Amino acid sequence: MRGITLLLSILAILAVWVAFSWRDTFEPESLSGARVLVTGASDGIGEQMAYHYARFGAQIVLTARREAVLQKVMAKCLELGAKKAIYFSADMASPTEPENLVRFALQHLGGLDYVVLNHIGSTPFEMWDGDMDQQRWLMQVNFFSYVAIASAALPALTESKGSLVVVSSLAGRIANPYVASYAATKFGLEGFFGSLRHELIMQKKDVSITLCFLGLIDTKNAMEKVKGKVNMSAAPASEAALAIVKGGVTRAAEIFYPWTVQLLFLIRDWFPDQRDKIIRGYYNYDPPHA
Ligand SMILES: NC(=O)c1ccc[n+]([C@@H]2O[C@H](COP(=O)([O-])OP(=O)(O)OC[C@H]3O[C@@H](n4cnc5c(N)ncnc54)[C@H](OP(=O)(O)O)[C@@H]3O)[C@@H](O)[C@H]2O)c1
Repeated sequence: MRGITLLLSILAILAVWVAFSWRDTFEPESLSGARVLVTGASDGIGEQMAYHYARFGAQIVLTARREAVLQKVMAKCLELGAKKAIYFSADMASPTEPENLVRFALQHLGGLDYVVLNHIGSTPFEMWDGDMDQQRWLMQVNFFSYVAIASAALPALTESKGSLVVVSSLAGRIANPYVASYAATKFGLEGFFGSLRHELIMQKKDVSITLCFLGLIDTKNAMEKVKGKVNMSAAPASEAALAIVKGGVTRAAEIFYPWTVQLLFLIRDWFPDQRDKIIRGYYNYDPPHA
C-alpha cells in the first residue's frame, strides 16, 4: 500500500512538472519591431526562423555566405511582414567577420534584442579520418565564431536586456558515431555558454541564454548526409525553428525539439553500456572489404 502511494506521489509530481514545463508562455506580439540577428539564415532551420521572425513583424539581419540566396530570403521576409530585413554575406571561417557582422547589425538596427547563433560548416557524415585541418576549420566556424559574435554583441544585448539563442544538437550532449568533429564543436557550446550564463547572472546582467538541443531535422543538407546511414525519422524544420524562436522569447535556459530529446537526456547516464549499444543500432556500417 505504501509502495502504491509513493508511486502515485511520484507520478503526480511528474505530471505537475510536465504541465509546468510545457505551458506555452510565448507572446508573439513581443517580437513586433524586435531587432534580430540570425546566422545561417540562407537555408534549413535558420531560413525558417527568419520567416517566423518576419511573420511576427521583427527587424532582421540575415547572414550566411551565399549572397544570391540571402537576397531571396530577405525578399520573402519582407513579403511575410518583417518591419525590416537586410543581409550581410560573410564566411564565419574568417576570424574577423563575426565583429564585422555585429557592427553591421548595430549600424542598421540601432541595437540588438536577439542574437540567434545557428550556422554550421558542412562536415562529412563519416568515421573520423584524422583530418586536423578540417577540425580546426570547423571549430572556427561552429564554435569560435559563435563566441566571437556573442562577445561583440554582449554590450548591446546588456543594454536591451536581450537574448542570446544558441543552436546545438542531441549530438552536443550525447556522443553518436559519424559526427566526431561536429559533436566536439557542439559539446563546446554548452560548456562555454552555460558558464557565461552563470557569469551574466552573477554580474546582474539581464541577458538570457537559450541553448537549443535538436534531434534529427528534415533540412535538405541533413537529409542528404544521413541518407542510407541512419534509421531514424526526422522532425520538420519549420517546427524546430518555431520552437527555437519561442525559446528565445520566453528566455528559457534550454529547449529540446522534438520533446524526445529531453527524455533521452534525462535517462542518458542510467545505463551507459546499453545506451551506447542502442545508439550504434541506429547507424549502418559497411566495413571496408580487405
Ligand atoms: N538538421 C538537423 O538534423 C540538425 C540536428 C541537430 C542540430 N541542428 C543544428 O541546427 C542548426 C541549423 O542546421 P541546418 O540543418 O538548418 O543547417 P543547414 O541547412 O546546413 O544550413 C546551414 C546554414 O549555415 C550557413 N553556413 C554554412 N557554412 C557557413 C560559413 N562558413 N559561414 C557562414 N555561414 C555558413 C549556410 O549558408 P551558406 O551556405 O549560404 O553559407 C546555411 O544558411 C545547426 O546549428 C545544426 O547544428 C540541425
